[in-house]
Amino acid sequence: MLKWYDEHHGKVHGVPFSFVQDNFDQAKTTQDHIVVLKPKSFFDKYARMEPPSCVLEVGVFEGGSLLILATMWPDARFLGMDLRNQNDDLLSLIDRFGWADRIDIEYGVDQTDREKVLQLLDEKMPTPDLVIDDASHLYQPSRKTFETVFPRLAAGGKYILEDWGWAHWRSWPSFAHYEGQTPLSNMVWELVMCSATSPSIVEDVWANSEFAIIHKALTAPCSSEPVSLSSLYTCRGVDLDEHLIGALAERDAVSTKLEAVSLALGVASAERDTGLAERDTALAERDAALAERDAAIENFNRADRDRRARRSRLAYWIDYLDFRIHLFLSRASFAPKSFRERFAKAAQSRKRACYKDTNAGSS
Ligand SMILES: C[S@@+](CC[C@H](N)C(=O)[O-])C[C@H]1O[C@@H](n2cnc3c(N)ncnc32)[C@H](O)[C@@H]1O
Repeated sequence: MLKWYDEHHGKVHGVPFSFVQDNFDQAKTTQDHIVVLKPKSFFDKYARMEPPSCVLEVGVFEGGSLLILATMWPDARFLGMDLRNQNDDLLSLIDRFGWADRIDIEYGVDQTDREKVLQLLDEKMPTPDLVIDDASHLYQPSRKTFETVFPRLAAGGKYILEDWGWAHWRSWPSFAHYEGQTPLSNMVWELVMCSATSPSIVEDVWANSEFAIIHKALTAPCSSEPVSLSSLYTCRGVDLDEHLIGALAERDAVSTKLEAVSLALGVASAERDTGLAERDTALAERDAALAERDAAIENFNRADRDRRARRSRLAYWIDYLDFRIHLFLSRASFAPKSFRERFAKAAQSRKRACYKDTNAGSS
């Protein structure tokens, strides 16, 4: 009784559900509406798998994926665990669908609480054959859950890590939750290494951008003892960390050099600024001296012009006086005629000189 309308909407037993992508705090499954946190593409891929019989989902949220999976796999039983508080509406819906003995949800359970998780498995589902970890998606908690639950997984069972690639997706609604966290992909790389070192336990690892599937080998034992992930793989050659440490040291050395260069550049540019300021002061002083010199030249020229003007007026009066004396002598009746004629001639030439100078002086 599962119907999809599109990638994000559908109905389970006549109750509509929708895939929610924001405002998670307000999203609630009610008797009339189911909230799910993954799109159809996940379920399409899960539908191609061999139907499991005992499914453990860590990270239930509002129960949407449990209800859809329960419809897809009608013969399977489900155990869900979540840190959240109980949603009574969801439990009523499960009752209404007649699934109370198929779906068990344990609230207030932290995926890192090994004792509690093992106790719940002991009581309710000792050997799941499918585990879906859709809880924190953080490296340490997810690893702890794997180390606790993977030994309990039935031989040949599947362990799914959803949203393992959050650190690598191009677009991602920037959840503060993931900031500064170790990418979950580190755990996937470790599991791939396990498949090389311990193929009799981790048969293979399959991944796409939505989830990774870790197949437990058919020969692997089923145990209550937690396993340490790092005990399942060895690593020869230079450790990736060492490469990274080397690269980081090189980067630090380069950045130290860059800092020194930028410090030297700062000092040089301060010196240049001081030099420029000194040059500007010297230029201003030179301009002031030139202005003073120009003013002195101007004063001198003005004085010179005054002096020349005074001298030219004096010369005029001397010439004029000389002309009048010659004129007077040229008309003196007591003097002989030749004397008067010589002075008249001289008076004429002085008169010309006198008026010429006057014209020249006035021009
Ligand atoms: C992505 S949602 C699960 C969505 C759900 N599987 C679905 O598809 O509809 C993640 C859930 O994990 C729970 N969670 C987060 N950290 C957890 C932890 N440390 N232990 C248990 N549950 C945790 C959150 O409370 C939240 O309900």
